[in-house]
Amino acid sequence: MQTIDTYIDSNKERFLNELLDLLRIPSVSADPKYKADVARCAETVKQRMMEAGLEKVEVCPTKGHPIVYGEKIVDPTKPTVLVYGHYDVQPPDPMELWHSGPFDPVVKDGMIYARGSADDKGQFYMHFKAIETMMKSGGLPCNVKVMIEGEEEVGSNNLGVFVSANKERLKADVVLISDTAMIANDVPSINTGLRGLSYVEVEVTGPNRDLHSGVYGGAVSNPINALCEMIASLHDKDSRVTIPGFYEAVAELSAAERKALAEAPFNEEDYKKDLGIKEVRGENGYSTEERSSIRPTLDVNGIWGGYIGEGAKTVLPSKAFAKLSMRLVPNQKSAALTKLFTDHFMKIAPPGVTVVVRPHHGGEAAVTPIDSPAYLAASKAMEETFGKKPIPTRGGGSIPIVALFEQELGLKTVLFGFGLDSDNIHSPNEKYGVFNYFQGIRTIPRFFANYAGMMNGKG
Ligand code: BES
Ligand code: MN
Ligand code: MN
Repeated sequence: MQTIDTYIDSNKERFLNELLDLLRIPSVSADPKYKADVARCAETVKQRMMEAGLEKVEVCPTKGHPIVYGEKIVDPTKPTVLVYGHYDVQPPDPMELWHSGPFDPVVKDGMIYARGSADDKGQFYMHFKAIETMMKSGGLPCNVKVMIEGEEEVGSNNLGVFVSANKERLKADVVLISDTAMIANDVPSINTGLRGLSYVEVEVTGPNRDLHSGVYGGAVSNPINALCEMIASLHDKDSRVTIPGFYEAVAELSAAERKALAEAPFNEEDYKKDLGIKEVRGENGYSTEERSSIRPTLDVNGIWGGYIGEGAKTVLPSKAFAKLSMRLVPNQKSAALTKLFTDHFMKIAPPGVTVVVRPHHGGEAAVTPIDSPAYLAASKAMEETFGKKPIPTRGGGSIPIVALFEQELGLKTVLFGFGLDSDNIHSPNEKYGVFNYFQGIRTIPRFFANYAGMMNGKG
């Protein structure tokens, strides 16, 4: 690994600058006004794949944003690693809270500040540079296929079609994804689970037009009052979700599994301090770490209606809206939970309002093995670069492709993330450590070497 580390060291500045260039492209998938930027980002990703030494590189159009694919088959008898990542990013809003432009990357105090720095450009680009490094210092120990999509942040709606139409092309032995976080830079960990998701938007309508809140107030159902009442009723006093059947399919963990999870270091005082809260709150009977990983949740992500401009306007609005997400755990099915929510939400509408529920996107939860050759190869690689064996932890976020790869291609994933929870992903001032970026580039080639070694003859 000497030559690998030497190559990385002597190309450090370029490796960093290339990432900064990528971060300058505002590839926001959610907002149509960035469509041309998303397309430009896909072309740039293609270019960078070719520069890294990948072949058969192609920008593959979908009904939405394109998927970029490339591969390097060094020997068909060797195992194949399928690397997945996403070049799309979340909208940068609220803009006024950024200390520097979201698409004007700044390196300060060892951190790269920009939208997408940790989620996921900085993380998938580590693989490009790791691949380049391996190729320039002795060659790839096994085959690699790389697929970087542009719709992860909006639910990967067109990825399923692409994956089932390209089963042969995507054939591999394992999937490797860097799009998650570790416990700390001196406490490496590997995510072994992700939550599923069901995302809906609701529209509550009262009177057929906005009304004077004095003339009509008190006699007509106010849709904002009604929506708040409905949302408030979705949790009981134990912070459990009240939708009938919500917990029915939930896979409960054994006492031993819960004990193992509790062994990961976690300091609740630091957690509260970091978030500026006095108390944590969540489902009774579960710890903070459990509430945010192995338990299903329901959260309002946005709510609006009525007058929100300067000053005051006395109005009884016609409509109110909210966006809600449910985080799901193994055995809960996204479509089933969307239906449970919809049926319940329609039923609890108070008199005088009508309710429409519009499903957005979803995805299934996933659990990844900790005894597979790929996990062991990843664990050993991290142990080599961090000097400590990584701790397996369950994550709370969602990456819908993980369940999809398993279902469509029969492939298991290793979540080889190098971010931190404090990276502010989806939030203003998103950042990624320069250390984390280079640590990833150093660790990935070790994974390839370990994996090729462990799979020797089994490719
Ligand atoms: N990289 C995140 C998911 C993530 C973050 C997993 C941190 C574990 C730890 C991913 O880009 C993401 O944000 N996914 C969305 C889901 C998608 C369907 C919109 C999410 O979790 O909200
Ligand atoms: Mn991501
Ligand atoms: Mn994300």
